[in-house]
Order: sequence, then structure tokens, then C-alpha cells
Amino acid sequence: MKQELVPIHSFQQLTPEILELTFISDHLAATAQPGQFINIRVDNSFPLLRRPFSIFNIEGNKVSIIFNVIGTGTKVLARKRTGDTIDVLGPCGNHFLSFVDDSFDTALFIGGGIGVAPFPFLTSRYPAGKKVLTYVGGRQKDLIVQKGLRDPRIATDDGSLGFSGTVLDLIKRDLAASPVSRPRFFVCGPTRMMKAVAEYAKEIGASCYASLECDMACGIGLCQGCNIEMAAGDKKYRLVCKDGTIFETQSVKLP
Ligand SMILES: Cc1cc2nc3c(=O)[nH]c(=O)nc-3n(C[C@H](O)[C@H](O)[C@H](O)COP(=O)(O)OP(=O)(O)OC[C@H]3O[C@@H](n4cnc5c(N)ncnc54)[C@H](O)[C@@H]3O)c2cc1C
Ligand code: FES
Repeated sequence: MKQELVPIHSFQQLTPEILELTFISDHLAATAQPGQFINIRVDNSFPLLRRPFSIFNIEGNKVSIIFNVIGTGTKVLARKRTGDTIDVLGPCGNHFLSFVDDSFDTALFIGGGIGVAPFPFLTSRYPAGKKVLTYVGGRQKDLIVQKGLRDPRIATDDGSLGFSGTVLDLIKRDLAASPVSRPRFFVCGPTRMMKAVAEYAKEIGASCYASLECDMACGIGLCQGCNIEMAAGDKKYRLVCKDGTIFETQSVKLP
């Protein structure tokens, strides 16, 4: 993990709501794994606290994140221009590939809203020959990102794109029609959605790994501000930023 000032290479508007920001980093290109995040100090003066973002993709030495403008930090980030620099700390956290083994056959990548962010990078690094089904859900079509995904199945709450309903409704429908052998769910999105997916996974006997979100400050295990209560294992609490962000869902008490 390293802190560095990196130059912004480009911006791309992926949907009316979602921007992709690409910067150059040889360090992250050489070290980052799918599911890891970076902690960005968006400005020298304000806001002081870094903001965490999943690594969306890496091509050569170009690293990208996606975001929608929701508050101070993302507003500052959206005003940056090509050639400006940002202060990036990373890569942080664990990664999805450490949970890819022979104990399952079919992976389901499940992204909710901006929680789709880690899946293009995971798609590009996922072992060839292992089967993947990709699902993306969102409130409406402007919140659906498909870039970098392989044949994503889309669900929107308002029916403006793809299946009309939640992404979990779509998964249930598909798996009822065409069951898959030994599935493992990899999910990232709003906590309510991840909780519902985790419960369904348990019901059908699938393993489920979720990339958890919470308010973070340091992002590297120093401030103790991102505790999550465990449901199993030797420790009562773990740190989302350092021990996660990815946890087996039956091992944690999802808030
Ligand atoms: C590990 C991790 C990875 C993340 N990856 C991404 C990503 O790839 N793309 C992305 O857009 N966002 C991602 N996020 C969320 C992102 O960090 C926040 O959206 C960002 O910090 C908001 O900063 P801000 O200054 O714009 O908003 P603030 O001014 O800090 O907050 C504005 C409002 O949004 C609410 N808010 C802040 N953070 C969140 C949140 N995480 N969820 C829901 N509401 C929130 C606040 O409570 C407040 O009401 C990630 C978060 C974590 C922990
Ligand atoms: S954010 Fe500081 S310990 Fe996790």
C-alpha cells in the first residue's frame, strides 16, 4: 500500500448519473487486485477526510473508479480536469480472488447501483474456464453501469431497463428456471440488498461473499472507525477496511 499523487488521465460519463475517472498509477497497476479499494483525498484543503472508492478497472497503467455525486467529496472530484492530480492511498482491503477456489462451480457477480464498481476488474481477472453469471440492479436505468461486464442481466425497480423488479427477484426467477451447480455469490451494493441476497444464498445452500460499505476514515486499520460485529469466528469485531471489505456473509452480523 502506498500514498501517491497521480495525474488524472480522463473522465467519461457512463450514464447521466455516473462518471468514470481514470488516472495513471504504475503502482496500483502492478499491485491491485479485484475488490480492493483506494482512499482518495480529493483536495488539499477541504474535505480533509479521504473518500473510499472501489477499483473499477485497470488497463495498462490506467486505473479507473466510478462515482455519482452525492456530497462534498464527490462534488470536488467531479470538478477536476484532465492533468489535475489527486492524492490516492491504496490498494486497500482484501480481494475477491482469494475466495475463488474449487469448492464452487458457478460465480454470480451481483452489483447493486454504484456497487457494480468492483465487477469489471473482477471480470477481467477472473480465471478463464470458470462459469460466471453477472447481475446488475438499480432504481432506474441511469444508475445502471454495464461497461466492462460480460452479458450482464439487468433489473430496475421502475422497469426502465431490463427486468422490472429487484435484482434478487431476477436471480430467483433465473435460478428457478435454470438451476446452476454449486453457486457462489459475490455481491456489492446497498446493505439492505446484500442482506436479502445473503439470506437467499443461505436458503439455497450457496456460499455468499459481500463487499461491505461503511463510513471510513483512515481506510488502513488505524482509526478503528469501521468495526463490524462478527457472527462467527474467534474475534467479536473486525475492521471492514483492513479485514474486509469482503466477508463471508454468514460470518458477519450485517447491520
Ligand atoms: C470500501 C468502499 C468502496 C466504495 N466504492 C465506491 C465507488 O466505487 N463509487 C462510489 O460512488 N462510491 C463508493 N463508495 C462510497 C463513497 O465512498 C461515498 O459515496 C463517498 O465517500 C461520499 O463522499 P461525499 O463527500 O461526496 O459525500 P458526503 O458529503 O460525505 O456525504 C453526503 C451524503 O451522502 C451520505 N453518504 C456518504 N457516504 C455514503 C455511502 N457510502 N452510502 C450511502 N450514503 C452515503 C452521507 O451520509 C450524506 O448524507 C465506497 C465506500 C466504501 C466504504
Ligand atoms: S477506516 Fe480506520 S480502521 Fe477502518
